[in-house]
Amino acid sequence: MCGIIGYTGDKKASDIIIQGLKYLEYRGYDSSGVAVLNDGVIKVAKKEGRIVNLERHLEEYPLEGHLAIGHTRWATHGRPSDDNAHPFISFHTRFAVVHNGIIENYLEIKEELMAEGVVFRSQTDSEVVAHLVEFMDKGDTKRAILDAVAKLKGAFALGIICVDSPDVIYAVKKDNPLIVGVTDNEGFICSDINSLQKFLSEVIVLDNDQMAVVGRGKAEVFSFDGIPVKKERIKLTAEEENALSDYECFMDKEMSEIPSALRRAIKFYREEKCFSKIDKDYLKKIRRINIVGCGTALHAGLYGEKLLNKFIPDVDVHSEMASEFRYDDVKVDENTLTITISQSGETADTLTCQRMVNARGGKTLTICNVPTSSMVHYADYALMICAGPEVAVASTKAFNCQELVFAMFVFDLALLRGTITPETYAHFCAEIDALPEKAEKALALREKISAYAARNFRRKSVFYLGRGMDYCVAMEGSLKLKEISYIHCEAYAAGELKHGTLALIEKDIMVVALVTQKNLIDKMYSSLAEVKTRGASLTVITPFADNPSLLDIADYIMEIPVTEEVLSPIISVIPTQLMSYYIARAKGCDIDKPRNLAKSVTVE
Ligand code: M6R
Repeated sequence: MCGIIGYTGDKKASDIIIQGLKYLEYRGYDSSGVAVLNDGVIKVAKKEGRIVNLERHLEEYPLEGHLAIGHTRWATHGRPSDDNAHPFISFHTRFAVVHNGIIENYLEIKEELMAEGVVFRSQTDSEVVAHLVEFMDKGDTKRAILDAVAKLKGAFALGIICVDSPDVIYAVKKDNPLIVGVTDNEGFICSDINSLQKFLSEVIVLDNDQMAVVGRGKAEVFSFDGIPVKKERIKLTAEEENALSDYECFMDKEMSEIPSALRRAIKFYREEKCFSKIDKDYLKKIRRINIVGCGTALHAGLYGEKLLNKFIPDVDVHSEMASEFRYDDVKVDENTLTITISQSGETADTLTCQRMVNARGGKTLTICNVPTSSMVHYADYALMICAGPEVAVASTKAFNCQELVFAMFVFDLALLRGTITPETYAHFCAEIDALPEKAEKALALREKISAYAARNFRRKSVFYLGRGMDYCVAMEGSLKLKEISYIHCEAYAAGELKHGTLALIEKDIMVVALVTQKNLIDKMYSSLAEVKTRGASLTVITPFADNPSLLDIADYIMEIPVTEEVLSPIISVIPTQLMSYYIARAKGCDIDKPRNLAKSVTVE
């Protein structure tokens, strides 16, 4: 949801900005831009479309200088265009600003500034910040920025440069991520910790309502009151190489990393004794668990809900998409735990719910991939999924690891509360250990699924079906397919289809069914017969590949390894991920950067 970066140092700043923006492009790719300060003058280049457009423009019209800020945009206010691209320059061209977030009161500020004669050149909310800072400037740049920030409502991470400060970038954070870092003779700001791995070995993560003044080899942090704040430096440890290597795209790479990510997550959870860090007395007292997330993370939460209902029957469990949870009159008391799930830990809808619960005095636990994220920072407890950097907009390995960590948490909770025996617990632990190898086997379906995609990529409509735990995977498979292939796709609980949606099933419709729960085979067969009778093409993902009923009815069978049933969604989702990938590839889609989307959605 927009990426920002800034550099000051000896190198050509626009080159560093372009390199950094390429790592940030997953956050938005509608337009990009750079502002460079050189000899007391700020010059700007901005281009609609992908970063490569900006890069080509800079090859033709280079911008010299050693201080710059850059931006890659996911449009909210104002359509994607050169004019609406960041950075924005203030009315006397003394300041340049890049912004990630939304300025909620921008219209009000814009009117005030226009009444003072300021001319606006874009339809964005962000442009007000540049003019406002210059308007507030009485000769002390830091003061001017703090005074401007005091007038802003909304969420913002800002990068600001000023002609009066030729070596300094000002970084401001409220509710959107911002990291700063320095080497001996350089200074950086950036939206994302992974994007700085190439340049830095340690970083400072800004908290809300903090500002940093970043120079060469020096970063000072202040509260919005202007009071200096001492900050810890965090070492960067690359869990996975953040570059494409030989892979065609990041989604391809990230699916291949599922087995190693699962191994790492299991090891970390056990070696770091993650469950023991949660207050035992509290865990025994819990009467209600809310689960909140968006998109893929929500689907992992739905799986968690099924597990909790099965293994902790005396706790009420309620899962909800974050964008709705905050409007529900959800119960939060001292015996309620709210679990937020998020790959990025920055998704605004989920983060808002977490804050809402904390503000009401409830406890929160986050299942998250990014240790330096806001969700981890503000949650009472955190379980890290250790999936490593996930760059493709379509989430894959993070989902497998979210499910895994949720399952490990539920088994530990069940053991603690005495709802499973130590023997059952030991059995689940052994089954968990077997998952990475099973994931490898499921990934071996690549070739078969690639051929399958070549035959099926022209389908106009697809339905994913499942019952019980399989329904969570059906939802995830369906989201993945529509997200990257733009094929209309819906997920249905198999038994629900006959209550209306069956009317849509006809010849050429593709139905993909998940059948991993033995006791549900017969019921699934009935639902599948209903769609087959209406002419649909039927694909079945199952470990029961020699089941005569399934063999008889399916047009395609994708066989997955036999897995302990309560853990099967961690494996059965893999063919759905591969199907989406190969179908999108066959259609020639831009897999890592699907239209209209961004990886990290930091606006509500
Ligand atoms: O970073 P988060 O896990 O909070 O992101 C939530 C969703 O935006 C995300 O899972 C989205 O649905 C994915 N692009 C789906 O592949």
